[in-house]
Amino acid sequence: MRAASVADWRELARRRLPHIFFEYIDGGSYAEETLRRNVADLEAIALRQRVMRDMSTLDLSVTTLGQTLAMPVGLAPVGMAGMYARRGEAQAARAAAAAGVPFALSTVGVCSIEEVAATGAPPWFQLYMLKDRGFMRDLLARAQEAGSPVLLFTVDLPTPGSRYRDVRSGFTGSGPLEAALAQLRDGVTHPAWTWDVFVNGRPHTLGNVEAAVTQKGRVTDFLSWIARNFDKSVTWKDIEFVRDVWKGPIVMKGVLDADDARDAVNAGADGVIVSNHGGRQLDGVASAISALPRIADAVGGDIEVFMDGGVRSGLDVLKALALGARACFVGRPWAWALGGGGEAGVARMLATLRSELTVAMILTGCANARDAGRELLDLTHSPLR
Ligand code: FNR
Repeated sequence: MRAASVADWRELARRRLPHIFFEYIDGGSYAEETLRRNVADLEAIALRQRVMRDMSTLDLSVTTLGQTLAMPVGLAPVGMAGMYARRGEAQAARAAAAAGVPFALSTVGVCSIEEVAATGAPPWFQLYMLKDRGFMRDLLARAQEAGSPVLLFTVDLPTPGSRYRDVRSGFTGSGPLEAALAQLRDGVTHPAWTWDVFVNGRPHTLGNVEAAVTQKGRVTDFLSWIARNFDKSVTWKDIEFVRDVWKGPIVMKGVLDADDARDAVNAGADGVIVSNHGGRQLDGVASAISALPRIADAVGGDIEVFMDGGVRSGLDVLKALALGARACFVGRPWAWALGGGGEAGVARMLATLRSELTVAMILTGCANARDAGRELLDLTHSPLR
């Protein structure tokens, strides 16, 4: 199958990836209500069709945090992408750079910040609050040294949400023998992945945190290290520490409440990503798109407002812009495209988003992505009414 849409990349990833990794990407927490809501609420918003307005000149670019993005889209930080394709973070970073959009590297990426920066495009860097502040300081220094322009500080994961699919697939919670058998079965049934990633994609470690992890058998050992080292005591006061160490812009990722967004402004953040971690944390919370307008109204005049969660097309991108986002990020769409087609897959997925956004702008009469506002929506058909 030749992928035409984000949904097609999901299907290709399902065929190509070992079951444990497909389920890890695809799943959400608990009953996955919020995951479904993220997608469904975006789908349910109607765009307002406008015609006969000279749309021969379009500008999809936006400027934010000192950078110009060729279109208002970025690749959200996604853990362990180097298990979806050989050195996956570096491949995705190259595709993002070619499309003129930012790639955000996860704390728990397989490729290190240095390996990704060596592609020529230093990534935005994502970090969690870890108990070991000395280690955080070192990591931030490495990211700064590598030329990372923006820090995404993820605040919605003081503890990991429970993901039933990962237990069922054997990704988490299984013993070493059970895990080895699952891996063997997956390897035999996915030979292309085995050759690309298992044989040629080594080392299978998490490059940013490798030095601090003592037990390094499977890639999931690193995840349990992270789970043990997340700092549940974190408050806005601790942002002073981050602010002190990090010299560039800081964006708080995982804000879903307007009061928290105001606290982020007071803590000196340069931006927020309205996000519920793609429905992977507290199930049952509001969709990211439904939280966006309140937050944009509350703090959009003071700091940059981005969103992620459920964006599956260029039409969704325009809806997010119309509701107050400067740009939006995609998580699963690029992980699926990477798993389904490597760097070329991510490049094609981004090209698809771009052409869908172009059509949406032309048929809503929006010539400039910077000017997108609520007038582009038909709110009589909206769940946000
Ligand atoms: C994530 N996300 C994430 N966020 C983060 O700050 N650090 C991380 O390491 C990860 N890891 C991760 C792994 C996988 C497999 C997924 C799907 C997501 C969350 C991610 O950055 C983003 O918030 C969501 O993916 C957005 O939702 P969509 O686009 O996947 O619907």
